Parts: sequence; structure tokens; C-alpha cells
Amino acid sequence: MLRLENVSLAMNHESGENKDILNNINIKFEPGKLYAVTGPNGGGKSSIAKVIMGIYKHTKGNIYFNDEEISQLNVTERAQRGIAYAFQQPPRFKGLRITDILKTAQPNMDSIGLRRHLRDVGLCPEDYLDRDMGPGLSGGEIKRIEIAQVLAREAKISIFDEPEAGVDLWTIQRLMGIIVNKYKQNQDSTAIIITHNERALPLCDEIIVIEDGAVKASGTPTEIWPLIKEEIECKKRLECRGEFGYEF
Ligand SMILES: Nc1ncnc2c1ncn2[C@@H]1O[C@H](COP(=O)(O)OP(=O)(O)OP(=O)(O)O)[C@@H](O)[C@H]1O
Ligand SMILES: [Mg+2]
Repeated sequence: MLRLENVSLAMNHESGENKDILNNINIKFEPGKLYAVTGPNGGGKSSIAKVIMGIYKHTKGNIYFNDEEISQLNVTERAQRGIAYAFQQPPRFKGLRITDILKTAQPNMDSIGLRRHLRDVGLCPEDYLDRDMGPGLSGGEIKRIEIAQVLAREAKISIFDEPEAGVDLWTIQRLMGIIVNKYKQNQDSTAIIITHNERALPLCDEIIVIEDGAVKASGTPTEIWPLIKEEIECKKRLECRGEFGYEF
């Protein structure tokens, strides 16, 4: 189990101002469950993922993974413990082939496995296995490879940061379906999907809403989905009345 206890994060902006990004986050992620993390832009979702992965160092609180306090562990050590993160904006690795990236995730993967993982994210292996991970790949292609390498990792905790971002309409539902089905069937591992995808939210076991650096609500889709829908409707009504500065 992964547990965040009173986790806070403050960071320096370019202006030099120290800004609170996360405030007293308390969340338990249990094995065998699929979590959706959602909420407004800039609310702190990716920051939570980066704090879990050790990319950002939280300023207060504790993070426990299977009862071990992991706050002092670096990214590599956390990856070795079984935590994997698919970036919202994945980095490019010029000079590495897609095959090399997938093999970093799963060194023993044979050619059948490599091909299957690429097909799962809708990429034809013949066209992609030997391609370079540099600027020649489109944003959506890079995103799919990032997701494929986290799926291949078979980690205990897999975090997908907006897997739908930049992925075309023809592929989004299939990709979401693959992620949901893989982790719904697995009792040992936990998946955390950071998403704005309205069709994915009800498929998860639990929805966590993050706003202004705090947990605004959490619970089952039956509990949380009506609250989200109500807020969306309320915002739409305000927009209709021109209270957001424009009318349509
Ligand atoms: N490295 C950083 N330095 C300074 N501020 C940061 C940094 N990373 C994030 N922030 C700020 O922290 C806040 C939360 O950002 P975060 O990326 O976690 O939001 P998010 O919920 O993932 O948003 P989105 O839905 O747009 O992806 C934002 O105000 C952002 O500008
Ligand atoms: Mg984000």
C-alpha cells in the first residue's frame, strides 16, 4: 500500500516567491485498486505524482510504501521498489530506439512482448521498433510509447499522467480500455490515472478530486461523479450568463 501522510510541497517561482503547491495531502492507495485523480488545471495532480516518484521533494509529511518510509529515496530507488510514472509531457531521448526504451522497462522482454506492447498502444511494431526517440516522433507517438513502457514495467504502483493528452480520438478509448482492464484484473498492483476523461472516471474504483493543492473530495464513482457533474453544470450556467466574460 502507498500512503501519503500530511504531504505538503512548496516551490520557488521564477519571481523568487515561495509558493505552496500541495497542502496536507492524505491519501491511501490500496493494492488491486484503480484510482482516478482529477480536478482543475494547476490544482496539483502532476505534483502529487512527482512527489510520489521522488521527482519533487515534498517539504513536509511522509510517504510510506508497504510500510517503508520512502521520502529519502531517490527516483531510481523508488523505481526499484516498484513505482512507475508515465509523464504528462514525456521527455525525448535522442539516440535511443523505441526498442531500447521498452527494454529498459522490462529487460527480459522478447520480440513478441515488444510487439504486443506497441500494438496495445496502437502503434505498428514494424514501423516503430527501430525508430529514434528524438524529435522525429510526434507528440502523440511519444505519449503512446511512454504509456507502453509503463505498462511493460509491471510495477506495483503505475501512475499515468493524462494518458489521453495529445492522443487522437480514434485511440483514446482503446488506450483507456487497455489501462483499465489491465489493472482491474490485477489484485497485487495499483494504478493511478490522472485524467480529465469523463468516460474513464466511472470505470475506476475510486475518484480523488484535487483542487488548490488539496484533496477536495474522494470516494467511489457513485459518490463523486454526481458532485463533479453538478459543478460542471453550474459552471456552464455561469458561462451562459456571461459571468466568465463571454457569451454564447
Ligand atoms: N517546477 C515547478 N516550479 C514552480 N511551480 C510549479 C512547478 N511545478 C508545478 N508548479 C505549479 O504548481 C501548481 C500545480 O501544478 P500541477 O502541474 O501539479 O497541476 P495539475 O493539476 O497537474 O494541472 P494540469 O491539469 O494542468 O496538468 C501550478 O500552479 C504550477 O504552476
Ligand atoms: Mg498535470
